[in-house]
Amino acid sequence: MKNIDKESLENAYRLFDSNDIEKIEIGTTKGLQNIHHYLFDRLDDFAGKVRTLNISKGGFRFANALYLNEILVKIEQMPESSFEEIIAKYTEMNIAHPFLEGNGRTMRIWLDMILKTRLKKLVNWQFVDKTLYLQAMERSPINDLELRTLLSQNLTNEIDNREVIFKGIEQSYYYEGYQKEDDEFYQ
Ligand SMILES: Nc1ncnc2c1ncn2[C@@H]1O[C@H](COP(=O)(O)OP(=O)(O)O)[C@@H](O)[C@H]1O
Ligand SMILES: [Mg+2]
Repeated sequence: MKNIDKESLENAYRLFDSNDIEKIEIGTTKGLQNIHHYLFDRLDDFAGKVRTLNISKGGFRFANALYLNEILVKIEQMPESSFEEIIAKYTEMNIAHPFLEGNGRTMRIWLDMILKTRLKKLVNWQFVDKTLYLQAMERSPINDLELRTLLSQNLTNEIDNREVIFKGIEQSYYYEGYQKEDDEFYQ
């Protein structure tokens, strides 16, 4: 477990505990950058900064850095009035993948804030299986049905439940290879 992930997790807890999350714009690129900056400030030189390099994962190349800023303007204008529209917007933001690292963790918080504001719901990430989620994300640039189905089965109305939020954040870090238990063992 890397120290940067532990400190970033603490930043994520603080984002909610301090209510700083309330100050962040919903569904915009600026809001996404603010969340990224909050999670990775002092841990990553590129905290909050849109990448200028091309990146890929699992054979999929994310948006070309040459036109990344232009597509981010378009993506933030995408509608958010239904669950389907919100997932379509999240999928496009994932295809943009604006940061060199930390896209997954940042974007799941960004998605939850859209769902909370527009639909009064959150994803109950603690019950979303890691393998199924990552498979659905890999599939999503072609078809987001799998992702939509998986997340719609795991929505909760408990939008102010601290345990739902914090367990969700821990699960989000677990998707990216960080496990809290390992850390406690080695301390
Ligand atoms: N092959 C893929 N195609 C599309 N999206 C992917 C693919 N692999 C991973 N993802 C998405 O990218 C996220 C990881 O991005 P990354 O920038 O590494 O985030 P983090 O640093 O938070 O680990 C995953 O959580 C998933 O949502
Ligand atoms: Mg990563």
